[in-house]
Amino acid sequence: MKKTILITGGAGFIGSNLLNYLVPKYPEYQFINIDKLTYAGNLKNLTAIADALNYCFYKIDISDAHSINKLFYDHKIDTVLHLAAESHVDRSIIDPMTFVHTNVIGTVHLLHAARASWQKNNFKDNLFYHISTDEVYGSLGENGLFTEKTPYDPRSPYSASKAASDHFVRAYHHTYGLPIVLSNCSNNYGPYQFPEKLIPLFIHNMKNNIALPVYGKGDNTRDWLYVEDHCRAIDTIMTKGKIGETYNIGGFNEWKNIDLILHLCKVMDDKLNRVSGTTAQLIQFVQDRPGHDKRYAIDATKIKNELGWKPYYTFEQAIIRTVDWYLENESWLEDILNGTYYKYYEQQYGKN
Ligand code: NAD
Ligand code: DAU
Repeated sequence: MKKTILITGGAGFIGSNLLNYLVPKYPEYQFINIDKLTYAGNLKNLTAIADALNYCFYKIDISDAHSINKLFYDHKIDTVLHLAAESHVDRSIIDPMTFVHTNVIGTVHLLHAARASWQKNNFKDNLFYHISTDEVYGSLGENGLFTEKTPYDPRSPYSASKAASDHFVRAYHHTYGLPIVLSNCSNNYGPYQFPEKLIPLFIHNMKNNIALPVYGKGDNTRDWLYVEDHCRAIDTIMTKGKIGETYNIGGFNEWKNIDLILHLCKVMDDKLNRVSGTTAQLIQFVQDRPGHDKRYAIDATKIKNELGWKPYYTFEQAIIRTVDWYLENESWLEDILNGTYYKYYEQQYGKN
């Protein structure tokens, strides 16, 4: 069966990895990517598929209701994979309102447009898939895991805005019968991640002998998943997930920040032919993130047992792939750091 799949936020980190994975895999499907091209969106991430016959891009802000309604009017969209979001916790602490506009209001505009367009056919063969985060569950102590039944307890403006969007998605299902599915995933890493997030930022700093700002004591724990494994999970849920359900996605791979950073330092010593222990000397403990969540860890049993997904890569393998990618793609990073990528979009599409 043919499908027309709308992907929001496809120029970002996970969205671009997802498009690079899905567009060649499903040549019979049409993919429409919409993205506002904020600082986090980069069309260079999509060079490999930019000219594919089953792919097109529109620069659209999901909080612009008129453009979203027109998009559904102009195209026979049957599936939505919704990834567009403001995604960085530190930015949400400085500017929460942008997170409300995109993550909450933008999501509701999409839900509204999908419902209006789909209900005349009784939502036949439709799917609204909302991609969310484990941060909605709050912060764990030393023990325990987030399951799909863990009560929501978001604690940063970012996670509060994602939790609100999750609630709206479920509300559209219960109230209007919109066919939805959700997933809540742990921390991703891999190619094309904006270098404000821990792993790409630290790889860049390590390579260039810049201090590594470790928040607090470095004793916060995250559960890391290689982005390609997340993309495979999204594909699995899109094709096999049960309407109305939520699936947690995680790497079964918890690391205390400081242990992960020390591991990365060792990998970089090796890659850069440095004497063992050299890179770790760059570590600097700095003021903690306000309200810094202590520990995230996902119980991904449901998706494993019900849909047969599990991570393909081990952390040790995938972190080397990731380091290699950043070392081999210096110009991608340089374009971001000197703002070239952004100036180009402003010329082509105008300022945001
Ligand atoms: P990202 O910040 O790298 O990319 C977000 C993309 O959304 C960018 O291309 C940006 O331009 C676009 N965007 C932002 N505001 C927009 C708007 N108003 N209209 C249209 N496009 C807009 O984020 P990411 O890390 O790729 O995360 C993608 C999704 O996955 C988010 O919903 C995030 O909450 C979720 N998620 C991320 C992680 C992670 O570790 N990165 C883990 C779990 C879930
Ligand atoms: O858990 C999923 C979430 O993971 C996603 O929903 C978010 O979009 C994504 O950004 C990520 O959130 P985190 O806040 O966990 O990721 P970040 O890379 O910002 O930080 C990872 C950990 O490293 C966190 O404990 C804070 C710490 N940190 C981060 C930075 C940028 C540092 O110690 N120093 C830093 O400079």
